[in-house]
Amino acid sequence: MVKRPKIAIVGAGGNVGAAVAHWAAVKELGELALIDLKGDVAKGRGMDLTQCSPFEGFNNTSFTAGGDAAALMKDADVVVMTAGVPRKPGQSREELINTNAGIVKGICETVKTAAPNAILIVVSNPLDAMVYVAKQVTGFPRERVIGSAGILDSSRFRTNIALAVGASVEDVSAIVLGAHTDKDMVPITSTATVGGVPLTKILSAEKLQEVVDATKKGGATLTGLIGTSAWLAPGAGTSLMVESIVRDQGRLLPCSIELTGEFGVSGCFVGVPVRLGAKGAEKVYEFELSPAEKDAFAASVKANQELMGIAKSFL
Ligand code: 2OP
Repeated sequence: MVKRPKIAIVGAGGNVGAAVAHWAAVKELGELALIDLKGDVAKGRGMDLTQCSPFEGFNNTSFTAGGDAAALMKDADVVVMTAGVPRKPGQSREELINTNAGIVKGICETVKTAAPNAILIVVSNPLDAMVYVAKQVTGFPRERVIGSAGILDSSRFRTNIALAVGASVEDVSAIVLGAHTDKDMVPITSTATVGGVPLTKILSAEKLQEVVDATKKGGATLTGLIGTSAWLAPGAGTSLMVESIVRDQGRLLPCSIELTGEFGVSGCFVGVPVRLGAKGAEKVYEFELSPAEKDAFAASVKANQELMGIAKSFL
């Protein structure tokens, strides 16, 4: 019997989880299991989404939903973890650690037993520290514990570049590495291009700095405007990661995983370019950063190590 991949979304009652479900349903990525502490909210999200399918022409009539995480995620191929509290205006992602570390830990214990072969994608904040918690609790190999953030930050970077240049975002190739924090994320300008032309040849140093600054505070800006964390682009980016895995596409996307010597770093979770395929994070791609980017990446690693130290006390 041919089976569709099973994709469990934890925190599907919340905005980010529901947005992941939305894109996954529209793209028909697999059987969705929508899980939330508030089981009825997860069911309602699933129903609401399913009732879009006659308009949009996708097939999503067989989802499951509720509050029983262990039963619903049983033998999932991919688990997306969006559980936890979102940012409030003025709050940093790092400030969420005391609340979210315990939540992520508890759910990862369930993932370990209910979906032992799953590829786990973590979206909860503070992202890199939560990927660390997920890896420690599940004991899964590093290729199956992956953080979703670099893809979102890179999307904001690409959008900001397109706006500054006045060019189509489709022609912008650019990535953000390092920590998923306002202070320490590292938009990589040295390799960014627009239509194959180096970005550094198109924008002045001053304009480039404005783009970098807007990118780094992208999440905070949205939180200030909306009153809570953004969810549409976080959901779309995460579903792209799911798609690359369940369709074995091998997309090269910035994701947070544990480094084992790449970029000269070991034992730290941080955003780097990763090939995502059927086995999960199949390969990390290293390349030469500019001296300023190297320093910023090192600061990112240091900041994440500190956050991992705090998260460790919850294990
Ligand atoms: C963001 O940057 C929620 O961390 C996420 O919008």
